[in-house]
Amino acid sequence: MATDLPSTSSGQAPLSKSGKSPLAVARLCAREGERIVMAAFGRPQDVRVKGRGNLVTAADLASERAIHEILAAEYPEHSILSEETAASATGEGWIWVVDPLDGTHNYAHGIPFFCINIALCYREEPLLALTYDPIRGEEFRAQKGEGAFVNDERMQVSQRESVRASLLAVGLGYNDERAGRLLALLHELWPGMQSVRIMGSAALGLAYAACGRFDLFVHHVLYPWDIAAGILLVREAGGVISDRDGGPVGIRSEGTIAGAPGAHADFLRLAAGRPWR
Ligand code: IPD
Ligand code: CA
Ligand code: CA
Repeated sequence: MATDLPSTSSGQAPLSKSGKSPLAVARLCAREGERIVMAAFGRPQDVRVKGRGNLVTAADLASERAIHEILAAEYPEHSILSEETAASATGEGWIWVVDPLDGTHNYAHGIPFFCINIALCYREEPLLALTYDPIRGEEFRAQKGEGAFVNDERMQVSQRESVRASLLAVGLGYNDERAGRLLALLHELWPGMQSVRIMGSAALGLAYAACGRFDLFVHHVLYPWDIAAGILLVREAGGVISDRDGGPVGIRSEGTIAGAPGAHADFLRLAAGRPWR
């Protein structure tokens, strides 16, 4: 029977302190993040530059604070691994992996393509994923073994068999050298694909691969809060997700190739021997 609680070999995730399921808590976090980021969207932003091309706005920080407060109140014994206050959580036990606003560059430019990204992991395995697009009101979610859904509709990855037949999406990240190599690979492969998109939110990119809007999503430099939810979304939607070398993926993998099984295999074949990452 489908349950609201993600399970591990050692049991199910417990209800929260106030008796909510982990999915209900994740939704609460996403809605609170939505309230905060949408209140400031489209207005002049209070932006700080973290690095080349890497921005943080007041909304990122406020969304993260609010999500931390909810998680600390509902699951005081769980760890949190999130972008702006990062990375002290260890691999043991339950960890909430949170990007309070993915797609900050878009957000800061008034471009409506960003999300709030939440995963609950046990020993670093994602068991619950929720990627929420507040502009379109789309909730991409999955729980291990129970399929993946966008709102009430079950998601399935694309069935494209080749890169040539695919709409490929990539992210450039914040590493110039690696981004340059990825662009060089695209140049080499072009026009051997239908089209390319660089959308600026890795988490939504993975969600779009999970629901088949993108045939394949490729990124060479990611962090746990970008990828954790997408790993489960793509798997539960019947897709293949690997690290950037084609090996097993985890929340600490530096990059990924994800989407239609056939197109994934074809991408690996085409990229073999090219220093794209
Ligand atoms: C970034 C976005 C971007 C991707 C970067 C990520 P942020 O996250 O997902 O599309 O290319 O690698 O770090 O900074 O907007 O949360
Ligand atoms: Ca972020
Ligand atoms: Ca991010």
